[in-house]
Amino acid sequence: MPHSKITHDTVTAAVKKGTGKNKLPHSWKDPLHLLSRFLVKPHSVGSIWPSSQHLARAMIDGVALKPGDVIVEYGPGTGPFTQLLRNHVAAGVDYIGIEYDKNLYKNLTTRFSEMRFHHGSAEDTAAILKHYKLKPASLIISGLPFANMPTALQERILNATQEALLEDGMFRTFSYLLSSMRPRITHFQKMVSIRFNEKHQSTTVLRNFPPARVFSFSRPVMQK
Ligand SMILES: C[S@@+](CC[C@H](N)C(=O)[O-])C[C@H]1O[C@@H](n2cnc3c(N)ncnc32)[C@H](O)[C@@H]1O
Repeated sequence: MPHSKITHDTVTAAVKKGTGKNKLPHSWKDPLHLLSRFLVKPHSVGSIWPSSQHLARAMIDGVALKPGDVIVEYGPGTGPFTQLLRNHVAAGVDYIGIEYDKNLYKNLTTRFSEMRFHHGSAEDTAAILKHYKLKPASLIISGLPFANMPTALQERILNATQEALLEDGMFRTFSYLLSSMRPRITHFQKMVSIRFNEKHQSTTVLRNFPPARVFSFSRPVMQK
């Protein structure tokens, strides 16, 4: 479909309808792939099991974008969220996935060949958008393991997120239920709360291992 003929309605319709590919379950190899990367880099991979389709749907729930808008995904891993974001790309939205693990990055470029990926760190998001001549993002979806991350890295990623988002943009992330009391998550929640004016928390997605909640942050405090 030519880009110029896509309207907001066609994006919404395409996203609601989905495609055959998006209805397929994950590859049975995905858990093995993520587990093998976790064994190599436990702290940065942060999880032994990919997110479920239920959590993926909660992460994308209510997202309304128009052609030309930019979505950034942090840490796509084996691609459970990417698989749903593919509908938006098919409807004219610009997408970039930033993946730190080279092996997972290579797999993403093969599996989702119509989408753009960058091998690097989310802390460089603002520079990465400039490099690809992309506009500031309307939506940043994160699959990052903030509970395992040094607090200084959390803060660098949050600074880059603030810088890379539009004034009316949104940042979405998830947190495993059992992680919420961990000191690094407490620090992350404090740091993210001072960078955004609005916060929304979903109900618990039980059909995920482990159960998780989705947090949406909007109206970023604009940096001077
Ligand atoms: C918990 S896994 C989640 C994967 C996938 N989003 C999911 O929900 O199943 C975290 C992912 O973030 C990636 N990652 C970790 N630190 C990163 C960073 N600084 N920048 C980009 N990706 C990172 C890991 O390599 C891994 O693929």
